[in-house]
Amino acid sequence: MAILITGGCGYIGSHTAIEMTKAGYEIVILDNFYNSKPEALRRLRELAGREIPFYKCDIRDAEGLRRIFSENSIEAVVHFAGLKAVGESVSKPLEYYENNVGGTVNLCQVMAEADCKRMVFSSSATVYGMNNPSPLREEMPTGAVTNPYGRTKYIIEEILGDVCKADPEWTVINLRYFNPIGAHESGRIGEDPNGIPNNLMPYISQVAIGKLEKLSVFGNDYDTHDGTGVRDYIHVVDLALGHVRALDYAMKHKGAEAINLGTGTGYSVLDIIKAFEDANSVPVPYQIVGRRPGDIAVCYSDPSKAERLLGWKAERTIRDMCRDSWRWQSNNPNGFDS
Ligand code: NAD
Ligand code: UD1
Repeated sequence: MAILITGGCGYIGSHTAIEMTKAGYEIVILDNFYNSKPEALRRLRELAGREIPFYKCDIRDAEGLRRIFSENSIEAVVHFAGLKAVGESVSKPLEYYENNVGGTVNLCQVMAEADCKRMVFSSSATVYGMNNPSPLREEMPTGAVTNPYGRTKYIIEEILGDVCKADPEWTVINLRYFNPIGAHESGRIGEDPNGIPNNLMPYISQVAIGKLEKLSVFGNDYDTHDGTGVRDYIHVVDLALGHVRALDYAMKHKGAEAINLGTGTGYSVLDIIKAFEDANSVPVPYQIVGRRPGDIAVCYSDPSKAERLLGWKAERTIRDMCRDSWRWQSNNPNGFDS
């Protein structure tokens, strides 16, 4: 029996593939390389120490998926494949709905045909929207999202809930990630964004290495301890381990469950700059600019449900996250092209 990982060559999928292999799961990876590279697959196989089966396939391709299910005995799917750029989703909403929502519906249909009815899904803290106060808890209302990317995550959670209601054989764990950063401690795999990064940590790393001149801090007039935005940053390896625990849980339970994966602690943008400089002894020049439209002041999790249900809690510190992000960036200045 094996676990299918969709989007397994991407940032979070590649780290999860290694931790799942280490935990003893047989895995099969699917990716269309839209936002990842064959070199990531080569390196994750190297780190896992084995020849992991791989299919270059799109989740919208039903025939391609049927082939994977017929050639392997798949008992569960860990579903990462999807588009994730918030800004791009505003200008290309149909691509996001087709890929994320359409692709997931297609995947579930093929899973049901193959009688595989267990899924761990990559959702996001973005489903909590703008109106809930932190710490964010799973039972809070979702859906007041401000962009098409976030809406795809909300819609998919709703669809998967309906699937579980219609057929009690289904199990779905919607993992709501907070802000994944960091990299594998080997420095061999990490986040490799295309073009100029949108997210904070890859931007800081590229400033530190001299590819970008300085960081723009988006606003210092929020109601936070230093005026800059506060987020719940989580090490990608802790996040990967959360998937292993969620999969263990999904093997024994039925129905749909939403679970936060965060640390429960919020750090500001200035806290992160300082932690990065301290951990790595490199300067991160920055300037304060206006707020980024759509940003909220504070977003962090209540992670207690994950601890209660999965027996999981994040262990790596902000210093670990900064050190590992920098090791990946400095060893691979051009990402997987270096
Ligand atoms: P990523 O882009 O690095 O990985 C996604 C992978 O899916 C890529 O390798 C891409 O090539 C593949 N893919 C995309 N569309 C596909 C399709 N139609 N068929 C097959 N493969 C396809 O992103 P990531 O950061 O690893 O995120 C993984 C998942 O977690 C995504 O669903 C994302 O929305 C979600 N998520 C990410 C974050 C974050 O901050 N990184 C936060 C919350 C949720
Ligand atoms: C963003 C997305 C969210 C997605 C998440 C992870 C938005 C509105 N939200 O969240 O849906 O799940 O990324 O991919 O885009 N910052 C700067 N300068 C920068 C970059 C960021 O000051 O150059 C600040 C931001 O204002 C924020 C913090 O750093 O306060 C974190 O930003 P980012 O890494 O983009 O994540 P989120 O905004 O939390």
